[in-house]
Amino acid sequence: MPDSTAPRAGKTTPAPTPAARIEAKTPELRVNGRAFYPATDPDMPLLWYLRDVLRLTGTKFGCGIGVCGACTVLIDGKAARACQTPVRAALEHEVTTIEGLAPAGGLHPLQRAWIEEDVAQCGYCQAGQIMAAADLLARNPNPGDDDIAKIPNLCRCGTYPRIRRAIKRAAQLARESGK
Ligand code: FES
Ligand code: FES
Repeated sequence: MPDSTAPRAGKTTPAPTPAARIEAKTPELRVNGRAFYPATDPDMPLLWYLRDVLRLTGTKFGCGIGVCGACTVLIDGKAARACQTPVRAALEHEVTTIEGLAPAGGLHPLQRAWIEEDVAQCGYCQAGQIMAAADLLARNPNPGDDDIAKIPNLCRCGTYPRIRRAIKRAAQLARESGK
């Protein structure tokens, strides 16, 4: 089966050697632990680069104006709107998408909790919701209702009560596993 995360031909430059990279100051974009060298308009929204070049389509396009949160990814662990982040702003930073949230072959506590609470309805917003929740749990391992209510992501299906339960369940799972 082809690697769906592999960049499409012609859209990224070959990886330079470390020495050549330092010499040429080639900016690196790290996505889910892998290095890429975008040969693209640096003003391209990160969302396009992730979806159209790297084929990481778990991150969704919703409003395109920074409101809905469907495009939420983590940049150095903090939630960011990929539709409002140009590629150049993410260079030399670590980007994590929903595809890279869990350890290889496993599920992140948030993903387990999302399944156990049967959160998704249409599902469109859910990757962004989980990434926003990952940011929250990294800052606050025991969030209350008020903390969760501050997550600015929108859900047209109104799954907020299940999201709230899942975040609390994930926090408990993470505490139990010591992560
Ligand atoms: S698509 Fe980025 S915030 Fe809506
Ligand atoms: S589950 Fe449908 S938009 Fe959130």
